[in-house]
Amino acid sequence: MPMRVVIEQLNYPFTRLPNYQIVMNPKLAQPEASLTSKQKIERALDFRSDTVTRPTPEMRRAMAEAEVGDDVYGEDPTINQLEERAAKTFGREASIFLPSGTMGNQIAIKIHTHHGQEIICEERGHIFNYEMATLASFSGCIVRPIYGEDGMLTWPEIKKRIAPGIYYKAQTGLISLENTHNMAGGTVYSQDVADEICDQAHEIGLPVHLDGARVFNAAVALGRPVAQVTKKFDSVMFCLSKGLGAPVGSMLLGSKAFIEKARIYRKALGGGMRQAGVLAAAGLIALEKMPLRLKEDHENAQILARGLEQIPGIKIDPRKVATNILVFNISGTGMNTADFSRKLAERNVLAAGIDPENMRFVTHMDVSREDCEVALSAIQEICRK
Ligand SMILES: Cc1ncc(COP(=O)(O)O)c(C=O)c1O
Repeated sequence: MPMRVVIEQLNYPFTRLPNYQIVMNPKLAQPEASLTSKQKIERALDFRSDTVTRPTPEMRRAMAEAEVGDDVYGEDPTINQLEERAAKTFGREASIFLPSGTMGNQIAIKIHTHHGQEIICEERGHIFNYEMATLASFSGCIVRPIYGEDGMLTWPEIKKRIAPGIYYKAQTGLISLENTHNMAGGTVYSQDVADEICDQAHEIGLPVHLDGARVFNAAVALGRPVAQVTKKFDSVMFCLSKGLGAPVGSMLLGSKAFIEKARIYRKALGGGMRQAGVLAAAGLIALEKMPLRLKEDHENAQILARGLEQIPGIKIDPRKVATNILVFNISGTGMNTADFSRKLAERNVLAAGIDPENMRFVTHMDVSREDCEVALSAIQEICRK
């Protein structure tokens, strides 16, 4: 595989690199050719996303021992347990286990909206930019995007963009918030701002969905339980497969009636997964144990942010790094993000640009504090050259 492919792919944040594409440091004692593909993966410090985390030994054991049944018949005890626990944790009537966060968001959108409606969301939002326009193809909606400082919307900004109730204008059907906001750098809604949006939207009969792929990170940053952070939303999606470390799976939460509808759409989309209790077993550990360690990822992100701030040509404000995602501008280094990523990959540090000038780093359970320090040294080195 030519190196050029590696460079191009590294510049896309969600690209998963097959083993052979990881560029090894030539100074490593063992020559690359003699490493197994597993070793190659293990030796790269991977900051591309928290989706790259691999299941813990405890998760793997639980998966091997999971009791299972046919979930399409509602008979998988481990999935049933996960759905009950998630609903309880969030103080909701019901929840449903899904193969991905995208499916969770899109099912919620389908239930809340009608064809021909508009959805208000922040312009860098995941549902708008990274979910394959499914809100158009599946739900028949378009997005009314609004730019929010640091990815955060406020009620006064949203209010101005709600369609007037005139018959010849497409109507606003839903507001969707993202907390934490991925592409804005893991930013967190203050409880008051999010609550006000929900309260005011409800006053005029508009539902509010939360893309809470990383809502446990938001809860840790706010020092509040997830149930409180998400209380006023009509529906909530969160991912087990990101910072919480499960290999697969997301949950959608809402009222009993809402989740009954979600079960129908999950099946329609091909998301009825039979003996998926093997996945839910890891999900249970992700839900119950892994939130307790997210603080560590946030501290590591701070270490990176404070180190990056010192490097000439890099622009970042560590005070804005609230969770485990850092987005920083490298235009002052004279490199674009493709060059920057490639040079880092040559030093066994994987990260990606979100555009030609801005890099994204994500901390997670598979990168330690020492790994962050190694990554910082690699960045210092490539910026000196
Ligand atoms: C904010 C946000 N929402 C939703 C998703 C979708 O999750 P999945 O990759 O499981 O479909 C992601 C994935 O990165 C995300 O970052």
